[in-house]
Amino acid sequence: MLAVRPQIAHDVLSALRFRRDHRLISLIATLSLKDIESLTAPAGHVTKALPMPMIAHRLGATIICPPDQGAGALFGRLGKVIEVADAGEFDALSVATATYASYFKYLETIHSWLTRHGVGEGIARDYIASLFKALGAAPETSPDADFRHLAQDYATRGGINEQVLRELTAHNMFEAFAESLDGIHRRITGDTK
Ligand SMILES: NC(=O)c1ccc[n+]([C@@H]2O[C@H](COP(=O)([O-])OP(=O)(O)OC[C@H]3O[C@@H](n4cnc5c(N)ncnc54)[C@H](OP(=O)(O)O)[C@@H]3O)[C@@H](O)[C@H]2O)c1
Repeated sequence: MLAVRPQIAHDVLSALRFRRDHRLISLIATLSLKDIESLTAPAGHVTKALPMPMIAHRLGATIICPPDQGAGALFGRLGKVIEVADAGEFDALSVATATYASYFKYLETIHSWLTRHGVGEGIARDYIASLFKALGAAPETSPDADFRHLAQDYATRGGINEQVLRELTAHNMFEAFAESLDGIHRRITGDTK
């Protein structure tokens, strides 16, 4: 299991001796399968995995590339496993993991607003946590609805959800968010164009 930070990976891995029969799982962010394979030759069997901190509570999903029975079984005991054969698909999925802090900033914005308007800290926290837990379950409880349709379902025409969505869209918030995802993708894939 290779789990050093990318900045020191070249130095650490070059100093190690690998055998052909080693089966390696690399967690090292931003190092491609090709990079790892060349640093760990002649080890022929390398799998990339991206577990997330929530794995400590057996929640969330680990992405694995390419699909590998051993790695799938190992991470499958710790939460969901999503296996992809294509390295580009793995890189694109990795981009989604850059959004957690912004998600909590979104919740923190609601929390601060509530407390500024006289709601107790604890009540605001409890309310937001249960609302977003329920929203988090919506894709599973409505498996046929894609996210666009869920957004539409929750935006009653002329209602307050539609208003916030319309105003944030007019402020280009979602465009800016998508541009940030492009930037993370360039960083992950090393594409500096
Ligand atoms: N944190 C994230 O959000 C995140 C996201 C995606 C992927 N990853 C990947 O997950 C892996 C672990 O990240 P982390 O955030 O958990 O980093 P971390 O807490 O800094 O852990 C790095 C590990 O590398 C070991 N290490 C440091 N220098 C070493 C050396 N010269 N030789 C051998 N081992 C050495 C450390 O051992 P000691 O504790 O003994 O110093 C520690 O176990 C990395 O490959 C990272 O790219 C992390």
